[in-house]
Amino acid sequence: MPSYVDHVERRLLDDPQVLGDIADVVGGPFHVMYPERVARNIGTFQAAFGAAGVDGFVYFGKKANKAACVARACADSGAGIDVASAGELVAALAQGVRGEDLMITGPAKSDELLWLAARHRALIAIDALDELERLVALNLAARIVLRALPDGSTSRFGLAPGELSQAVERIDPGGPILLSGFSFHLTGYDAIARSEQAAALIDLCLRTRAQGHPADTISIGGGFGVDYLDAASWARFRDTVSDNWFHANPPKSGYYPYHFPVPGAAMLTAILAHRDLADRLRDNDIRLAVEPGRALLDRAGSSVFRVQGVKSRTVGAEPYDILTVDGTSLSLSEQWFDSEYLPDPVLWPVHPGHRTPTSVGASTCLESDLLSRRRIPLPRRARVGDLLVYPNTAGYQMDSNESPFHELPLPPKVVLSAGPDRLRWRLDAPAR
Ligand SMILES: Cc1ncc(COP(=O)(O)O)c(C=O)c1O
Repeated sequence: MPSYVDHVERRLLDDPQVLGDIADVVGGPFHVMYPERVARNIGTFQAAFGAAGVDGFVYFGKKANKAACVARACADSGAGIDVASAGELVAALAQGVRGEDLMITGPAKSDELLWLAARHRALIAIDALDELERLVALNLAARIVLRALPDGSTSRFGLAPGELSQAVERIDPGGPILLSGFSFHLTGYDAIARSEQAAALIDLCLRTRAQGHPADTISIGGGFGVDYLDAASWARFRDTVSDNWFHANPPKSGYYPYHFPVPGAAMLTAILAHRDLADRLRDNDIRLAVEPGRALLDRAGSSVFRVQGVKSRTVGAEPYDILTVDGTSLSLSEQWFDSEYLPDPVLWPVHPGHRTPTSVGASTCLESDLLSRRRIPLPRRARVGDLLVYPNTAGYQMDSNESPFHELPLPPKVVLSAGPDRLRWRLDAPAR
């Protein structure tokens, strides 16, 4: 199941030298980031707003990747950042994103985070009545949206309809807290559900304006799908997968929809087109914010591990290899949600050989520490010293779960850019 890759990554994989040079310098697993791709992905969302004639704003969901180069790409591209901790807020400011371009999400935010957010004029998504009380008690000027609990949702986040009304009542229209509007975030990847929830929030804005508040902004959160694989590979996998494709136990909790026909900005266009949402936003002077994490990181990074050992096993009478690579599957988060990251890793460098079913283990003492339980048909037998490149890992895979377990160093991030004559690389600024 080969993944789509960015042209910079294609050049890296095709180059006979650069990847090996980086691996020699780093001396362990590492991630490669392509920030030019982040800028292009942001541009596609901004273009979708422009084409629909909607006043829109993109906040990058920072939880999806910690790299400084991603935050810098946001600052350079006119995007804001959605942060959920004081650490994320400071990291975003450090890369040049202005406070007024920050959206603060997350439940029961600490007083410290509320205070910092108010000081920097960030837009705070209030998640609960007691959180609003704590913000009121700070007695600072602040800009807020109220996060709504969507109808029928069992989410622990957001305010139920009665709580929303109480929150609106609690805010004095002439006071220091400015009620800018409402927000929501849905799990799943359904464009229609998002569009209809947005329409409901437009109505809420209009009622709230009648109570003297600006209510001119709604945020529809993240959840814009990513298209990792072509339709045929994905259909073949779904139609034929069976338990004995996997080393030891197959994952139990289902898979991300790795083929996603209307991804990212195209999904935003579909949301805006449904029941004339774009017209309603425009007619009512409402700004639409989005908070994509994964979709802005599509094809913007990959994760590289070195093969440290190769063993043979059999399943029935069929032989397969099981590799041990340096690093851990904590650098490929999907493996820790009882699921599997399905885009095929690329075995580098290319050599002739025979197709070899291969599972990939990592270097800790945990039985479950596997980067690929699936026996992937690699084009040849892997050898000690080869590199395995997991593609398209920037969105949530590479660094949301990493820990220095076993006192292994955290994989550094290498920032790659394409010059006209050659590829250039440098280390990302240290995470803050
Ligand atoms: C409030 C909020 N906004 C945005 C996002 C980003 O979601 P995604 O990466 O799926 O776009 C999340 C993810 O959990 C979230 O909780």
